[in-house]
Amino acid sequence: MIGRLNHIAIAVPDLAAASETYSTTLGAKVSQPIDEPDHGVTVVFVELPNTKIELLLPLGEDSPIANFLERNPGGGIHHVCYEVDDILAARDKLKAEGARVLGDGEPKIGAHGKPVLFLHPKDFLGTLVELEQA
Ligand code: CO
Repeated sequence: MIGRLNHIAIAVPDLAAASETYSTTLGAKVSQPIDEPDHGVTVVFVELPNTKIELLLPLGEDSPIANFLERNPGGGIHHVCYEVDDILAARDKLKAEGARVLGDGEPKIGAHGKPVLFLHPKDFLGTLVELEQA
């Protein structure tokens, strides 16, 4: 059911330092920081040949990554995002298998303008999973 790895999101306490690590130390191509107020994050996209890394810094009062950074002050992998062809079909299959979909279970428009859902980390080996309709 899941297809390509769309991105791995890493929450970071210092976006400039994280960008520098990826651009200089690791030699990757990084974007300028982009504020996404609707999603409560500022993002730097790291482009790799086969996928993307998203470096996330909390933005605003109710950032969805604020609690994560409190528990992981040095940063850490926040979620992985897999592509699916049909997000509603994927959701219904997962719910039938007993997996928990976060929020109200309805897809939201994600950071790339496409429908996304998040799945409970306790059902997926301790990893928050984002599904994006490709
Ligand atoms: Co994501």
